[in-house]
Amino acid sequence: MIPVILCGGSGTRLWPLSREAFPKQFLPLVGEVSMLQATWQRVRSLASAAPLVVAGEDHRFMVAEQLREAGCSGATILLEPAARNTAPAITVAALEAMRDGDDPLLLVLPSDHVIANVDAFTTAVAQAVPVAEGGVLVTFGIIPSGPETGYGYIKAEAGQGVRKVARFVEKPNAATAEVYVSSGDHFWNSGMFLFRASVFLAELEPEQPAMFAACREALEKARRDEDFVRLDKVAFEASPSNSIDYAVMEHTQAAAVLPVEMGWNDVGSWAALWQVAQQDGEGNAHHGDVIALGCRDTLAWGNGRLVALLGLQDVIVVDTDDAVLVAHKDKVQDVKEIVSALKAQG
Ligand code: GDD
Ligand code: MG
Repeated sequence: MIPVILCGGSGTRLWPLSREAFPKQFLPLVGEVSMLQATWQRVRSLASAAPLVVAGEDHRFMVAEQLREAGCSGATILLEPAARNTAPAITVAALEAMRDGDDPLLLVLPSDHVIANVDAFTTAVAQAVPVAEGGVLVTFGIIPSGPETGYGYIKAEAGQGVRKVARFVEKPNAATAEVYVSSGDHFWNSGMFLFRASVFLAELEPEQPAMFAACREALEKARRDEDFVRLDKVAFEASPSNSIDYAVMEHTQAAAVLPVEMGWNDVGSWAALWQVAQQDGEGNAHHGDVIALGCRDTLAWGNGRLVALLGLQDVIVVDTDDAVLVAHKDKVQDVKEIVSALKAQG
């Protein structure tokens, strides 16, 4: 089984810490190592070969350096000249995995998630292996804790263990998410997938012929050196942009879901980071040099200088060299609006 680590996201909801030049997967947001490094360390005992890592061209040195630091040698780093979302990234990885005529199992992993219970994760992957070997696209389901609209929702058929997917709906609106959560038979899609390379490609190609062709050409014309596989710019940029969830998972009849309780969190916002961070008795989480008096349920992220909070509740404060964020915990999904506004200002 070969891990495919997706490393090209921009993590805008964790601004101002996560930036285009330094997105969240490269930051040690939880624990000592970066989220990318933690992703590799979590999966290394399962891997039969070095991982395929798909990342943006601009991040190539950071990816290579962080993998080296994490003891990951021999990774194939595929570089995208432009971001086209996860479906093309996985397609080039699957084509690369099949280049020598092999058809390995691929474990597709986002590079920016936290999994508290690694044993539960590795056990689940092992359980899914024989199912994926039989030609199924296996997803890993999370019991939803609320009607979040940022996730894929998977309706599972009745049963135990790995079950057939009855329906996959990516990012439903709030009312629909509410219905799904109260039905009790829906899971969140964790964003991790296990399948044979050929099975994924056979599902993708008829749905996304232009994407498939663009990815194949981009890989055929790629420039390879010791460190990187640089996908051809013109070919890859011609690919439509889409996620695996919309492009494949919503359409396929060949999906199954394995529900797993593994302390999963996709750290999609400052509030999510507060949840997984170590908190004091009052629910305050601190990073760096912070003093909080009379505060409850706050998150303060320092950056070398002292951050002092007084009499606050449900507030997030993030200090960086050139920007400070002060936000209410209920509003943190809108941090990406700040990023858009800043971009619009130029
Ligand atoms: N190489 C590459 N290129 N990686 C990418 C790209 C890209 O263009 N775009 C995103 N990624 C990486 C991100 O870094 C992340 O690790 C992973 O792919 C998933 O992308 P996100 O952009 O974070 O997806 P999402 O969070 O909106 O939705 C996905 O994950 C949810 C769970 O966290 C979907 O799979 C949902 O269904 C799922 O619930
Ligand atoms: Mg995500």
